[in-house]
Order: sequence, then structure tokens, then C-alpha cells
Amino acid sequence: MKNLKHLILYITFFQIFANINCQQYVVPKGRIFHTAALIGTKIYYLGGQNNESLLTNDFFYLDISKSFNNTEGSLPFVNVTLGDSVPEHYGATTVVFGKFKESIFFFGGDMGTLQNTESLVYILNTTQLPLAWKNMNVPNNEIERRRFLSAVADNNNKNNTIYFFGGGGGGKLGDNLYIRYDTMNIFNSTTSNWTYGTIDNTIIKREGHTATFLSDTGEIVYIGGNSDNGLMNMANLDVYNTKSCNWNKWETKNPPEQRYYHTAILTNDNRIIVFGGVKASKLPVENYYVVLDLKTREWYHGNGTIIGAPYRGHTATFHDDHMFIAFGQGTTKQASNDIHIYKIGDYANFTEVEQYNKIYLTDTTVIRTIVIPIIILVTTLGFIVFVVYRYNKARRMKGMKPPRDTMSEP
Ligand SMILES: *[C@@H]1O[C@H](CO)[C@@H](O)[C@H](O)[C@H]1NC(C)=O
Ligand SMILES: *[C@@H]1O[C@H](CO)[C@@H](O)[C@H](O)[C@H]1NC(C)=O
Ligand SMILES: *[C@@H]1O[C@H](CO)[C@@H](O)[C@H](O)[C@H]1NC(C)=O
Ligand SMILES: *[C@@H]1O[C@H](CO)[C@@H](O)[C@H](O)[C@H]1NC(C)=O
Ligand SMILES: *[C@@H]1O[C@H](CO)[C@@H](O)[C@H](O)[C@H]1NC(C)=O
Ligand SMILES: *[C@@H]1O[C@H](CO)[C@@H](O)[C@H](O)[C@H]1NC(C)=O
Ligand SMILES: *[C@@H]1O[C@H](CO)[C@@H](O)[C@H](O)[C@H]1NC(C)=O
Ligand SMILES: *[C@@H]1O[C@H](CO)[C@@H](O)[C@H](O)[C@H]1NC(C)=O
Ligand SMILES: *[C@@H]1O[C@H](CO)[C@@H](O)[C@H](O)[C@H]1NC(C)=O
Repeated sequence: MKNLKHLILYITFFQIFANINCQQYVVPKGRIFHTAALIGTKIYYLGGQNNESLLTNDFFYLDISKSFNNTEGSLPFVNVTLGDSVPEHYGATTVVFGKFKESIFFFGGDMGTLQNTESLVYILNTTQLPLAWKNMNVPNNEIERRRFLSAVADNNNKNNTIYFFGGGGGGKLGDNLYIRYDTMNIFNSTTSNWTYGTIDNTIIKREGHTATFLSDTGEIVYIGGNSDNGLMNMANLDVYNTKSCNWNKWETKNPPEQRYYHTAILTNDNRIIVFGGVKASKLPVENYYVVLDLKTREWYHGNGTIIGAPYRGHTATFHDDHMFIAFGQGTTKQASNDIHIYKIGDYANFTEVEQYNKIYLTDTTVIRTIVIPIIILVTTLGFIVFVVYRYNKARRMKGMKPPRDTMSEP
């Protein structure tokens, strides 16, 4: 609780600062296979391939501390002014990490001709201005460049470990073969050490899957993906236990259609919402919105195709019972620049909303963790200033004779 308080305070102060720094609003172009990273109330979008198959390294955020109507005016997007950037790319992965969940870790992707290990990993710390992506060296030739993989950070843990599993691609420079991986790279951000996770012989090489970290148990749930022998089974899920460092199988009830290139978010009441995906035929899945209840391990199915929504190359970000589905390819748009906002209901119920209302100062935890500390801080500062003032005044007075009219009569 204390940590959370610090975190929210820290991010709030920083956001005020950063907002002064870059106020340049943008209307982003459509894209697919970009990345999204939520820090505080900013969703940072990076890279992707545009509608003319050009790679980008655009970097901007959507400010969800503001309310907005999705159908009128422009959304509160802010173009980020950067020191250094990552090369243009698509299909990379980003993950939020750090003591205050303030940093973004970038890994992999297809960078066209820049398929080397030197531009494989970048870190951006949003508390350090000017914002800049810092290139990080990785052990030479040890870590294979992949795309369409999934990474999660164990933010529970002071060790702050990040797990990168699977993915596909051409591996090293000059490698023309398409390869799928079952590699688990583990990055320890305390030591900057890379190690490998154990892979047992039940683990299939895959790409286009999702990873969801469950902080309660320290498990990572892998859903879907495409393997060398077709789509992954959705009824039996591979789950990696970060505490015991081994894999388990989860049997689930009522599994949905198999898929890859979908997204997954974790709700506050322990459900995983899977959105979109493609079938083996590369056509969109029949049911875009399916939900795994982690308590019962039962799947719930939404209502099928969602008109206008993307099914691959989009990102999903969860904040305050809303899911932000950004960009991606839909049946009518090759590279969309739409943001779809879904209000999450129970089971697999949801509603698309056009009006997003910030919760900022109405949420009780925000009042408890931001407003009250600020009041305490201001009061304390006021008191200190008062005491210092009184002390200085008293010091100036010392040695002076008290004024005549306050002297007692002899
Ligand atoms: C965002 O900023 C970058 C760098 O200043 C600039 O090159 C780019 O055109 C801007 N994008 C938009 C959409 O304004
Ligand atoms: C791509 O999008 C731009 C606008 O962002 C548009 O002018 C252009 O015609 C589009 N190209 C294709 C191939 O759809
Ligand atoms: C980011 O910078 C802050 C100080 O500005 C530091 O406390 C924090 O540890 C840094 N995060 C990482 C992941 O290095
Ligand atoms: C750090 O990682 C080690 C090995 O996985 C684990 O035993 C230890 O409990 C972790 N430390 C914290 C503070 O979680
Ligand atoms: C990460 O490094 C720290 C510091 O050396 C260590 O205590 C911890 O066990 C490491 N974490 C893992 C998961 O290996
Ligand atoms: C991890 O980092 C520590 C300190 O930098 C180093 O001594 C150790 O050899 C590293 N371990 C591995 C497995 O790379
Ligand atoms: C899904 O279908 C049910 C029954 O046809 C309907 O009551 C419900 O409103 C639909 N939900 C959505 C999100 O379309
Ligand atoms: C949500 O869906 C479940 C079954 O899928 C249904 O029983 C329930 O009534 C729905 N709730 C709402 C609020 O629509
Ligand atoms: C959003 O804006 C549109 C167009 O101005 C309007 O028709 C709609 O009612 C607004 N939605 C809400 C929820 O206010």
C-alpha cells in the first residue's frame, strides 16, 4: 500500500512535469503490429507497419487522464519528443517494468535490414528527461531476435524479472528461413543478466501467442499461437511457474476457437480477455471476444464478430474496467487508426463506448493515495515554513531588548 502510494504520487508529479514538456497533439496514422505500454495514465504506442507496408518508429501516447468522446474531435494523443529512438520496425514486444513501473523494455521485432543483435533491446525510463531509448548490449549472438512473441515482467518481485517466450522469425542476420522458437529468455533487471528458463519436451515452438502474468501466484499463462504443426490447443494451456521454474498444464472448459495474433488482458477480477485473432486460414476468428475465468478455468464466449474492430496487429490495454483496442487490421481496414473502447462487463459481456470518462478524482483509491498525501504534504510544508519563519524572527529579535511597553514594571 505504501509502495503504491509512492508510485502513484511519483507518477502524478512526473506526469505534470512531462505534460509541460510535450504538448504536441497528433493524429496518428493507421498501423499494425505496433506495441503499447501503459505507464500511469499514458498509453505509449511505438512503431508498427503502416498501410503502405512501411515500417515506422513513431512514438506517441494517448492521455487517458482526460475524458473524451471517441466520435468527435481528435483524441488526446501526444507526440513524444525523443532524444534517441529505436529503428523502424514491426512485431516487437514491449513490457513495463521498474520499481515504479516507470520504464519500458523493448525487445525484438522485424527491423528490415537491421537484423542484428546490436539493435535488439532498448530501455526507456519515463522519469528521465529528455525521453530517450537507450540501446542495451546483449550477450553476443546468444539471444535470438524474434517477432510475434510475448513478454511479461514479474513486477511483484524486487528482482524485477522479465520473461520472453517463443516467437518467430529469421533469427540471425542473413538467415532466410522462417523459424519458430520455444526459447524462454529471462532478464534480471537488477543485474542485467540474461538466463534461460527450463523448457520441457511438452513445450511446442510457437509465435503469435499471448502471455499473462498472474501476480497472485507468480504464474504466466500462455494462450494460443501458431506452431509448426498448426494452431495451439486452447483447451490445454501451458503455464510457467516463475517460483518453481517449471511448466504446468491447465485444462480449461468450453474452449473457444483456436487462434493467433490475438491480444490478452487481465481484469481486476481474475479473468483473461482474449480479443481478435486469426484462424489457420489467416481469416479472422468467428468470435472476437472470449474470456477465461481463472477461478473456474472456464471460457465464456462473446457475441461473435464486432463490426469495425481489428482482429490482428492491434494492441489491447486495460485500465479501470475499460479495454483500449488500438489500430490493427480489420475486415474493412488494412491498417486502422481507430481506438475502440470496451467497457468490461461480467462473464463475456461488454459494451463498446464512445465516451470515455476519466475516473481521476472520483476514484476513492486515487483520493486516498494522491489527494490526501498532497494535502498532508502541503500542510506539513506550510507548517515547516511557519516554524522556520518564527525561528528566524526569534533569532533576529535575540539580543534586542524587548520593547518597552511589554517590559514588566520593576
Ligand atoms: C512527431 O514528432 C516527430 C519528431 O519531432 C516528427 O518527425 C513527426 O512528424 C511528428 N508526428 C506527427 C504526426 O506530428
Ligand atoms: C494510406 O493512408 C494514407 C493516409 O494516412 C492515405 O493517404 C493512403 O492513400 C493510404 N494508402 C493505402 C494504400 O491505402
Ligand atoms: C528510472 O529512473 C529513476 C530515477 O529517475 C530510478 O529510480 C529508476 O530505478 C529507474 N528505472 C530503471 C528501470 O532503471
Ligand atoms: C529473487 O529471485 C530469487 C530466485 O528466483 C527468489 O528466490 C527470491 O525470493 C527473489 N527475491 C525477491 C525479493 O522476490
Ligand atoms: C536477480 O538478481 C538478484 C541480485 O543478484 C538475485 O538476488 C536474484 O535471485 C535474481 N533473480 C532471478 C530470478 O534469478
Ligand atoms: C549475474 O550478474 C552477476 C553480477 O553482475 C555476475 O557476477 C554473474 O556471473 C551473473 N550471472 C550470470 C548467470 O550471468
Ligand atoms: C449478446 O447476445 C445476447 C443475446 O442475444 C444479448 O442479450 C446481448 O446484449 C449481446 N451482447 C452484445 C455485447 O452484443
Ligand atoms: C452476462 O452474460 C451471462 C452469460 O454469459 C448472463 O447470464 C448475464 O445475465 C449477462 N449479464 C449482463 C449484465 O448482461
Ligand atoms: C459523442 O459525440 C457524438 C457526435 O457529436 C454525439 O452524437 C454523441 O452523443 C456523443 N456521445 C456521448 C456519449 O456523449
